[in-house]
Amino acid sequence: MFAGVVVRIGEEIRGYVDSCPHAGWPLSALDDRYLTRDHRHILCAGHGALFTPLTGECVAGPCFGERLSPWPVEVRDGRVVTA
Ligand code: FES
Repeated sequence: MFAGVVVRIGEEIRGYVDSCPHAGWPLSALDDRYLTRDHRHILCAGHGALFTPLTGECVAGPCFGERLSPWPVEVRDGRVVTA
């Protein structure tokens, strides 16, 4: 069992395990508060790491260059399901 997060950017969705590669903390303490205000990045509330939503790559912060662990998801009949 794990906590996951699903992000949608336009028509694309991605799923990730809700664990930051820096220290393993959950990315957010609040449901639905994973993105930066401009919605361009996933933000880790722990130490401010920023991740590209479509790749999970850390582009700023203490885990620069690492990636979120992918969680395969897809849309079927309008619902998000585990792939
Ligand atoms: S736990 Fe995410 S940046 Fe430190």
